[in-house]
Amino acid sequence: MGSLNNRAKIFTAHHQAPPCTRTHQIGAILLVAATFFLTRLFDESFPACIPSSFDHHITPQSQSLVHVTDGGSLSWPQRGYGTYLSLKIYIYEEYEIDGLKELLRGREGKISPDACLKGQWGTQVKIHRLFLKSRFRTRKKEEADLFFVPAYVKCVRMMGGLNDKEINQTYVKVLSQMPYFRRSGGRDHVFVFPSGAGAHLFRSWATYINRSIILTPEGDRTDKKDTSAFNTWKDIIIPGNVDDGMTRRGTPTVQPLPLSKRKYLANYLGRAQGKVGRLKLIELAKQYPDKLESPELKFSGPDKLGRMEYFQNLRNAKFCLAPRGESSWTLRFYESFFVECVPVILSDQVELPFQNVIDYTHVSIKWPSTRIGPELLDYLEAIPDEDVERMIARGRLIRCLWVYAPESELCSAMQGLMWELQRKVRQFHQSAETFWLHNRTIVNRNLVEFSSWKPPMPLP
Ligand SMILES: *[C@@H]1O[C@H](CO)[C@@H](O)[C@H](O)[C@H]1NC(C)=O
Ligand SMILES: *[C@@H]1O[C@H](CO)[C@@H](O)[C@H](O)[C@H]1NC(C)=O
Ligand SMILES: *[C@@H]1O[C@H](CO)[C@@H](O)[C@H](O)[C@H]1NC(C)=O
Repeated sequence: MGSLNNRAKIFTAHHQAPPCTRTHQIGAILLVAATFFLTRLFDESFPACIPSSFDHHITPQSQSLVHVTDGGSLSWPQRGYGTYLSLKIYIYEEYEIDGLKELLRGREGKISPDACLKGQWGTQVKIHRLFLKSRFRTRKKEEADLFFVPAYVKCVRMMGGLNDKEINQTYVKVLSQMPYFRRSGGRDHVFVFPSGAGAHLFRSWATYINRSIILTPEGDRTDKKDTSAFNTWKDIIIPGNVDDGMTRRGTPTVQPLPLSKRKYLANYLGRAQGKVGRLKLIELAKQYPDKLESPELKFSGPDKLGRMEYFQNLRNAKFCLAPRGESSWTLRFYESFFVECVPVILSDQVELPFQNVIDYTHVSIKWPSTRIGPELLDYLEAIPDEDVERMIARGRLIRCLWVYAPESELCSAMQGLMWELQRKVRQFHQSAETFWLHNRTIVNRNLVEFSSWKPPMPLP
């Protein structure tokens, strides 16, 4: 009797089960092991694809919607993430929407996406390409949970392909042709803005896409403008784009050095750009040249200093200082994990990726930027090497989350991003222009059914 019952349960569970492939199960086991060793570095609910037989209560409906039983008890979806990934993302096609080509390749269509792949801003191309190949891609708009609007505007602008005015006008033209954007007021549309300027690259962003999901390494520009485009409720912080040669598994371009072989206590290799914190570090390095390496560089980053040279210098300290630049975001934070120095964040407003599941106190230090001085060096010097080693070892385990690798990798920036996106999916769509009738028909102000909404149309 008992066994029959069990079997029935397992059968039902299987019936409703997520598509748990062998790879996922191995992944789940690896992750469970990692979780075990890392004690709370990851939250327990992170990417595990829970074997179906562990879960008897989940019905497809309660996986995504709040559920109230006849008895009145409430079942809440698992912290909004669900137990497995089941997203459907529609990717707008270059030729489907008039203007999208310009946002991807510039006015005359001459800017090569490959030229936009490298460097700090490469994420706008990488994320688009990975979405195109994703198993979560759908070609049917009517079944999509989310819509991705590809654009390489950061790169296109830098290469003279479009100016600010053209970027703004082209975005507005593009959005006006999207009925689904209108249906939700943009709430289910996803954009990437890969630089510190965030969505400000699109001048009228606040009017048109202030409800949309923005993927950005950090949108804080409170130093330049009063408003930050980054919104902690709807936007997602993505990792910076670390040089591919460094994120390669097995044989990175530059290997980390043993702690005992490192010449400096700390370093900062970058331009001062007239920023207070950075200037203080350069001064400090003149006072303590044997502890802190911080030369006055005219240029910065892997391309300018010589890629190899830059990382060879970076690996030569126990602590890599990451002071604020134009914005609070800094690529150095992510690079530190690959040369295996402990990142020291000197940027008070910073927002870090995947904060729902990573406890950054295990892998980094954040020091008040107002206290940059000899005190900081004394503090870092007093940290025992075994503590440094421990932080580095933990960092080594999570750094896969900074790598824009294909979906076949069990741990990558894309895996993290997909979970974050899944959490943002709204079951219900509405905008000021959306109305609905007793029979669930969605209409506009003129009572025209959604399927007949005709683009182009005016926006907000
Ligand atoms: C952006 O473009 C729209 C549509 O052409 C226009 O109404 C708006 O004023 C522009 N914004 C800025 C800041 O130029
Ligand atoms: C978004 O923009 C609209 C139009 O400018 C404005 O009325 C609204 O308050 C903004 N919403 C948010 C959340 O900023
Ligand atoms: C829903 O109701 C509206 C108004 O009565 C009607 O025009 C429409 O055809 C109905 N839709 C469906 C799918 O039944």
